[in-house]
Amino acid sequence: MTAATAHLDVDAIRADFPALTRTVRNGNQLVYLDSGATSQKPVQVLDAERSFYERHNSAAHRGTHLLGEEATDAYEGAREKVAAFIGAQPGEVVFTKNATEAINLVAYAMSNATAADGAQGSGRFRVLPGDEILITEMEHHANLVPWQQLCERTGATLRWLNVTPDGRLALDQLDSLLTGRTKIVAVTHQSNVTGTIPPIAEIARAAHEKGALVLADAAQSVPHQPVDAAALGVDFLAFSSHKMLGPYGIGVLFGRAELLEAMPPFLTGGSMIEVVRMEGSTFLPPPQRFEPGVPAVAQAVGLAAAVDYLAGLGMGNVAAHEESLTAHALDTLREINGVRILGPDSTKDRGGAVAFEVQGVHPHDVGQVLDELGIAVRTGHHCAWPLHRALGVQASTRATFYVYNTHAEVAALADGIRYAQRFFGARQ
Ligand SMILES: Cc1ncc(COP(=O)(O)O)c(C=O)c1O
Repeated sequence: MTAATAHLDVDAIRADFPALTRTVRNGNQLVYLDSGATSQKPVQVLDAERSFYERHNSAAHRGTHLLGEEATDAYEGAREKVAAFIGAQPGEVVFTKNATEAINLVAYAMSNATAADGAQGSGRFRVLPGDEILITEMEHHANLVPWQQLCERTGATLRWLNVTPDGRLALDQLDSLLTGRTKIVAVTHQSNVTGTIPPIAEIARAAHEKGALVLADAAQSVPHQPVDAAALGVDFLAFSSHKMLGPYGIGVLFGRAELLEAMPPFLTGGSMIEVVRMEGSTFLPPPQRFEPGVPAVAQAVGLAAAVDYLAGLGMGNVAAHEESLTAHALDTLREINGVRILGPDSTKDRGGAVAFEVQGVHPHDVGQVLDELGIAVRTGHHCAWPLHRALGVQASTRATFYVYNTHAEVAALADGIRYAQRFFGARQ
């Protein structure tokens, strides 16, 4: 079930992913359409992690011994690779646990700045009652709940852009929602449900004109399209390794150098301090200020291998391959009576997440029937409950594509949906 496309040699790529050779339920070949939740991992990433543990395992930024030095070089080398991948400087890349922690880091740094400065402080991060945080109805809970919590801690007010019936952002609301009180605008760079790609650069320009900071949730964009942090014009960018062929347990916060420099820490402890006395402590410059504890070196090494892998394919090719699969999926699913695609129905400004509703069949039942056929999709609200409400559904079924997926797998998905409709006697 493989095929080369104009952009990627998918046969060769699939050979790098041991999990894809598996058979699953009923002896069916695995059709993995859940990379939006987490991607599969190539042998290059698995080998890099294993080799680190076998030869260099040691705590980075600590021991004076050779292994410690090698671990430090590996960790900082990984930072350099990640920085180059997103058009940033190494000092602008903070390793976190995942995208969720990266977003929380900024939200907590803001309330920590408020606590430290009080009403007198001049910090850009200070948030006071009456200030506003602007997000959108399209956000993953990871870019929504931390901002609700920041508002609760500071007395600020949460505002949001609505979603249009076709799954785009209601950008006409931007003018009235962006005010001089807006402290930060946090917006997804690619929806994990509808695939929508909002015009981040335009939003960032408007936000900066009002003096607000801008954070882009890039958990679904950095793995799937070329991303240049400087060109986007954002202040912060958050993403996770495990969605871009890398290991679990490591993510990235990109922050513009001058902002990280001015930002107080979120988590504190060893490795991030300059001088510690019983009366108080001072902190290292970024990025170390934001990386307390023994770093996740093996995971950073794995992420660097994933970055090498993706850079070797070329992110333009990755995006083009996914666009061709997405176009195929949209065309095929649109033809099925009783299937409603959530979000934009063309690939314009849209990535490869295709969520849909099968009328008369609960998404969990659709998912279960597909699973019986060996097709792995995600069902539920995909951590985007308000977005589902806005689109008038409780839950949906979602297929997401990546570098190893084929057109034959898209066709298998469509056949599987038709089979589920017949199985449950739904209208076709
Ligand atoms: C758009 C988006 N933002 C944030 C996240 C959170 O990523 P993680 O769970 O790796 O922190 C996800 C994960 O699904 C996502 O799709």
